[in-house]
Amino acid sequence: MGLASTGAKTAMSILTAFTFFALASIPAPISLMNNIEGRIDTLLHQMSIEEKLGQMSQVALPDQVTPEFKDAVRKGKYGSVYGWGSPKVRAELQKLSIEESRLKIPLIIGQDVIHGYTTGFPIPLAQAATWDPALIKEGARATAKEATQDGIHWTFSPMIDIARDPRWGRIAEGYGEDPILTSKMGVATIEGYQSPSLAAPDSLAACAKHYVGYGAAEAGRDYNSTWIPEGLLRDVYLKPFEAATKAGVATLMSAFNAINGVPASANPFTLRQVLRNEWRFDGFVVSDYMSVHELIAHGVAVDGADAARKAIDAGVDMEMVSDDYLKHGAQLLAEKKLDIRMIDEAVRCILRIKFRMGLFDGRHQSVPDHDLLPTEEVKSIGRKLAGDSHVLLKNDDNALPLTSSVKTVAVIGSLANSPSDQLGTWANADAKHSITPLASLESRMGKENVFYASGQVPEEGQKDNVENRILSKSHHGFLEALAAAQKADVVLVFLGESSGLSGEASCRSDINLPGSQAELVSELVKSGKPLIGIIMAGRPLIFHETAAKLSAVLYVWQGGTMAGPAIVDTLFGDIVPSGKLPVTFPQSVGQVPLYYDHLNTGRPPALTGPASEDRFRSKYLDVTFTPEYPFGFGLSYSKFTYSNGSMTSPVLHNLGTVAFSADITNAGKFAASEIVQFYTHQIAATVARPVRELKDFQKIHLEPGETKNVIFQLEASELGFHNSHMKLVTEPGHFEAWIAPDSASGIKFNFELAKA
Ligand code: NOJ
Repeated sequence: MGLASTGAKTAMSILTAFTFFALASIPAPISLMNNIEGRIDTLLHQMSIEEKLGQMSQVALPDQVTPEFKDAVRKGKYGSVYGWGSPKVRAELQKLSIEESRLKIPLIIGQDVIHGYTTGFPIPLAQAATWDPALIKEGARATAKEATQDGIHWTFSPMIDIARDPRWGRIAEGYGEDPILTSKMGVATIEGYQSPSLAAPDSLAACAKHYVGYGAAEAGRDYNSTWIPEGLLRDVYLKPFEAATKAGVATLMSAFNAINGVPASANPFTLRQVLRNEWRFDGFVVSDYMSVHELIAHGVAVDGADAARKAIDAGVDMEMVSDDYLKHGAQLLAEKKLDIRMIDEAVRCILRIKFRMGLFDGRHQSVPDHDLLPTEEVKSIGRKLAGDSHVLLKNDDNALPLTSSVKTVAVIGSLANSPSDQLGTWANADAKHSITPLASLESRMGKENVFYASGQVPEEGQKDNVENRILSKSHHGFLEALAAAQKADVVLVFLGESSGLSGEASCRSDINLPGSQAELVSELVKSGKPLIGIIMAGRPLIFHETAAKLSAVLYVWQGGTMAGPAIVDTLFGDIVPSGKLPVTFPQSVGQVPLYYDHLNTGRPPALTGPASEDRFRSKYLDVTFTPEYPFGFGLSYSKFTYSNGSMTSPVLHNLGTVAFSADITNAGKFAASEIVQFYTHQIAATVARPVRELKDFQKIHLEPGETKNVIFQLEASELGFHNSHMKLVTEPGHFEAWIAPDSASGIKFNFELAKA
């Protein structure tokens, strides 16, 4: 093709891009001003088919970087490496790419940096419990700075899968069950990684995953099929991804699961129709690990070539780790089973992100000359994140905070002293930097005043590690634990799950406290001492009967490097717990899935529970239908009252807003923060609407005795949903709203949405 036609093509794509941004009424990105599209055109024109397929391929860094591997990099065989290697190796490969490959196209180096890097932060589910997007953003910014120092460009985070089944181990990695909370947390994370701009040398390109529906895995079993009606897909599961694309996320990852029979990594509806046509996403999509090749096992591709064709056609731009694009792409093109325009479009999206990141323009590839260490600054962010994620579930007779009359404590449970388990799943941080609760208590109270006994021993013949102690049914450690309890003023019982029991491929059908932990608590009751339960876990656990034996229950998730100091801060009241649950806690595994924004049914259950005489209602005979703790729930050492609800008008007009407000008073003795939530419910519409939907929330800080008037502005568009024709509509009618401390209570309002 001659120069003139290249120029014409360039002009066309710029024009197309400008039209696209004008239509989407979002500002044209700086990239266009820098003529990124023109630079891509020039490259596309020069690239061979093999080099294009190379850009579309991500290779896992081999254990040994052989001369053959280096040669493949020189030949432009890979556009990206999935790099668990050392910064030195990453830099060496990048140098080869930039200096010795024919077209000098840089690699994009990706790694899972999920919750902290050098400094481990709380698992994402814990971070969601802070309900504090500004803090989440600060954490992600700090993480980006740490990871980029190690030569990483791109993280496979945030996971913004809605999860409503605590059996699913990956619930730990997301922000819970609600689309609004997840959207806000996901956007904050993306903004933290990608600020001040993608081109900044310490900015980390984000990857919103897993697109889409992965969290709806049937029966809570990882990778399982999902069945999600389109309305629910759009109103719940897609919502955080739409928010992520609006926030400028660089990349998305196509999920492992099938949605209504069509695998997410070969799904033209979600990848082309929704993502590209409706949302105008112009970054790139990477598959999940081998999910292109797995199309064969799904039963939608006959072989690798077919898998490559289906994934490329559907809009998966880059293949992670499997190599069907590389192996079969050229042949598919030769046989006209693939259109070169599909390939060019995919390569364009990948190169666009590489340009935006400044990879072509001398972005410095960092190679630290020493192992990076957690800094005081980042540790203090980690400590705050961990402390603010604590959810106080029970506090009889103000058992917490511990007062100065508590001179000695017994610390029971191996999780109190497990540097690696407190890091949670997908941890990058080195456990040797973890400060455990036991170490923190000893340093606060003096070693001689802390009596530690794990109370747990592995089963006969099992290796002695924390996971085996947690899972063990043995009672062998009980006597020692009871003896420690008897010597102390207060007993701190660390309960929960080791880190390997949640996360990817760590699903459990029984989510009661594992092993003999419930019996251990029963044994400790014999001491007659106040028992404080501190639960470390990557998911909601069930501990109904155990909770009744504990004076206080503090849910601390897996809090990262600084979990120990943060727990001690909360136990002694240096910080007052303000976390609220980002996910419903069931009372029994038989209730799962259980989430707050369910529909009412024609026979809503009566609140009297199973003993009710009102038999033919939507409930169980053997357990109540209500959760143990509802979504949004969390206590404080202080006490908040909600009063004086008012609204600016009982009628909301289509283009207007109504402000709802309430006075929140700190009626307790501690300065404390409260997360105030705002919910709505449409009483009748053409399709049934959830009994409550979170619309917004605010975290406020109040001194004892202080009152603040909290205002929520509601616009009609926030009441929209997809009707049975899959049209996004708002329907006039009657509504309820609540300003509430959780999803099961609050001050109630009634209002009307007027006809347009
Ligand atoms: C599989 C996981 O599903 C995904 O979340 C992760 O980013 C990739 N493996 C890469 O490690």
